[in-house]
Amino acid sequence: MGLQIAPSVLAADLSRLAAAAAAVTATADWLHVDVMDNHFVPNLTIGLPVVECLRTATDLPLDCHLMIDDPDRWAPPYAEAGAESVTFHVEAAADPAATARAIRAAGGRAGLAVKPGTSLAPYEDLLAEFDLVLVMTVEPGFGGQSFRADMLPKVAAARDLVRRLGLELWVQVDGGVDEQTIASCAAAGADVFVAGSAVYRTPDPDAAVERLRAAAAAGSAAGR
Ligand code: DX5
Ligand code: ZN
Repeated sequence: MGLQIAPSVLAADLSRLAAAAAAVTATADWLHVDVMDNHFVPNLTIGLPVVECLRTATDLPLDCHLMIDDPDRWAPPYAEAGAESVTFHVEAAADPAATARAIRAAGGRAGLAVKPGTSLAPYEDLLAEFDLVLVMTVEPGFGGQSFRADMLPKVAAARDLVRRLGLELWVQVDGGVDEQTIASCAAAGADVFVAGSAVYRTPDPDAAVERLRAAAAAGSAAGR
């Protein structure tokens, strides 16, 4: 399980999603797709029909981040649509274990996301049902926000927990991750890095991914 860089298309030109995928195909590991419903978060982005189309437009693994109410009902169809990874927020889920099982049954990796104000500790017993835990480093809802360094202890705690439980889980960070902040995330134990603005608001997204990867690798080596 190496370091994975997942550009978030939220920061790209949303009228040209296939081009946004193509712009990072040479370098990215996963393509991060932010699904927002204007209920769980105060923003509305894209949903299942768009993910179905995107599935046919790129070979990159799709990493769907659902910031929506009722993920118990809506998350499994994203895996059925071919998303390799489907992450939902524990704050919104009625039965996170059953939802994770449904995602896995549909062939996807299941991810559990927590907002900055949500502790992972109460969900320790659930983690065996998941393949990934997402520690949000901004309040979910919008790209382009400042990284919250106060979330780094939570990233480290997530990594410790995964280690202690003997699980193989990705620890993902999302929000304000850029060439400056990514090293501290890696040092704290993150191994999947979502970056929107730091990739797509640059002249050369592929080059930006490579710079992020180098900075993450340096941070990871320093953290050991
Ligand atoms: C925010 C989204 C993020 C967003 C990150 O709620 O979950 O994935 O696209 O954007 P940046 O990297 O610009 O903070
Ligand atoms: Zn996201």
